Amino acid sequence: MMDGGTRIQDRNDALVADALAGLTARQKTLSPKWLYDHRGSALFEEITRLPEYYPTRTEAGILRDNADALAATVPTGGALLELGSGASVKTRTLLDAGGHIGTYAPIDISRDFLFETAEDLRHRYPTLDIVPVVADFTAPVALTAALTAVPKVAFFPGSTIGNLEPSRAQALLSAVRDWSDIRAFVLGADMIKETTTLVAAYDDAQGVTAEFIGNILIRLNREADADFDPSTFDYRATWNAALARIDMHLVSKRDQHVTLANEVISFADGEAIHVSAARKYDPQMLAALARSSGWDVNRQYVDDQAYFSVAVLTPMKQWS
Ligand SMILES: C[S@@+](CC[C@H](N)C(=O)[O-])C[C@H]1O[C@@H](n2cnc3c(N)ncnc32)[C@H](O)[C@@H]1O
Repeated sequence: MMDGGTRIQDRNDALVADALAGLTARQKTLSPKWLYDHRGSALFEEITRLPEYYPTRTEAGILRDNADALAATVPTGGALLELGSGASVKTRTLLDAGGHIGTYAPIDISRDFLFETAEDLRHRYPTLDIVPVVADFTAPVALTAALTAVPKVAFFPGSTIGNLEPSRAQALLSAVRDWSDIRAFVLGADMIKETTTLVAAYDDAQGVTAEFIGNILIRLNREADADFDPSTFDYRATWNAALARIDMHLVSKRDQHVTLANEVISFADGEAIHVSAARKYDPQMLAALARSSGWDVNRQYVDDQAYFSVAVLTPMKQWS
């Protein structure tokens, strides 16, 4: 497809293949991992500061209140590896309390944003070894030899676990369980609560979340030879009680055809693309997920409103 008369420069073949598979399925879908180009990462940071978005400030409070105990899960000279690290803002609470930590490895799919964040952290923590890893955690993450060798703790905050299908969440936890010398998994998860609070967190009054989700269409235009008109899609967030998750959709406002990498995709008026889900975990659900992937729940910190939990998982002894 031509873009202003020139062929697009940075066609992303993995995105093209994934988007074509998702958009030609009966229920059209896009994977949330594609939300995070540089603009998407910056928009997510804006979301974390919204009044409706309680998860970030609630989890940050739990991390602050228990920083010493959480930092102490990392052995002296060991490594903290963060999955889906984004701007690593909350992580600083653990790094501040963990002067004994030798290495911090932020792992993220959003390459440029990750490297910018790593550079900022090098200035903040000049004696800490900062090792950014560009990786998609829905596939096995290749660790450097140095990271493989040291005792390590995985950190997965932000309730990003909720964006994964339960089978994928289980696969990720199992894969991390198999990392050499893994000592603990610190996992932040959002909890089930009143529907209006949940929906408002994903459909804010300023429309930042709508812009974040809609940005995926702009990315498809830029990197997947597509010609979406984003103004012809509405954003919709709904609570799905049966699956304990918020569903985020882009809904076509009219009958239309869109081209993506020379394939024509038709949308009916009102037809929705499922772009992201945010699953909520009560403590029992989380414990079941942990046990099914080789982890014991060593302890779980929950805020006073029971909005959010941070669990410390330790490797189950009998696991092969
Ligand atoms: C919900 S944000 C959380 C950011 C940060 N950890 C926090 O707690 O505020 C999800 C992060 O995971 C990253 N991410 C999403 N899918 C990913 C994937 N499949 N592999 C690696 N990183 C991914 C995004 O780029 C983003 O930085």
